[in-house]
Amino acid sequence: MIEKMEFKSDFDSAKWYNKRFSEFGAFETSEKYNLLMLEWLGIKEKTDKKLLDVGCGGGFFLKQAEKFLNCTGIDFSKEALLQAKKNCNSKLVLGSASNLPFKNNSFDFVVCLGSLEHFIEIEKSLKEMNRVLKKNGKINLFVPNSEFILFKLNPVTAHQPNERFASLKEWEKLIGKYLEIESVHKFTHNPIGKLIPKNFTYSFSFICRGCVRSELLL
Ligand SMILES: C[S@@+](CC[C@H](N)C(=O)[O-])C[C@H]1O[C@@H](n2cnc3c(N)ncnc32)[C@H](O)[C@@H]1O
Repeated sequence: MIEKMEFKSDFDSAKWYNKRFSEFGAFETSEKYNLLMLEWLGIKEKTDKKLLDVGCGGGFFLKQAEKFLNCTGIDFSKEALLQAKKNCNSKLVLGSASNLPFKNNSFDFVVCLGSLEHFIEIEKSLKEMNRVLKKNGKINLFVPNSEFILFKLNPVTAHQPNERFASLKEWEKLIGKYLEIESVHKFTHNPIGKLIPKNFTYSFSFICRGCVRSELLL
């Protein structure tokens, strides 16, 4: 795992994101990408099921997801949430991924898209996502691959102060400690990416079920 952890506290990290969001705006994800994230969770039609987006940023995923589901976004950056408020109608909560302010078994779906790799307490956050997920719920974790084929030509570089890149095996080992991995999808922005073997793709989407091991439910 390639790990750069410049900030040691959520307070300092959130301060950086506040500045980033107010100076440059939100990281915008495309409609195609957002729909793919929903499709991989098996969401194709409108229901009254509940979804939580952890590290929701500017709310672009929520804007799509709320057409199908009853959505909540959480982010520790106040500036991110101010922007999300303009982009979507979902419920928005200020708080940290490592201490989710929700009861056990609250959500049918949890997503964490391009955010998990930035969390200081990554393992505690995975445990928290498992805790708030309903028993038959599903999670989509979108994370970057340290073995991405183009990183072989240009070494991997972190763009945010706290960032991790890991291989398929390393992510499997970490995520598998807290969740039951059901499937792993490969993702690249480029259509040619379909030809790239999974190990060398740009990012992975881990579709997981909650883990019922008793020590994780405490
Ligand atoms: C790269 S952005 C991704 C945003 C969004 N998911 C997307 O796909 O556009 C990472 C987000 O995670 C948030 N974040 C980082 N650490 C966090 C934490 N511990 N708790 C909650 N949000 C956090 C940041 O404020 C930022 O909005």
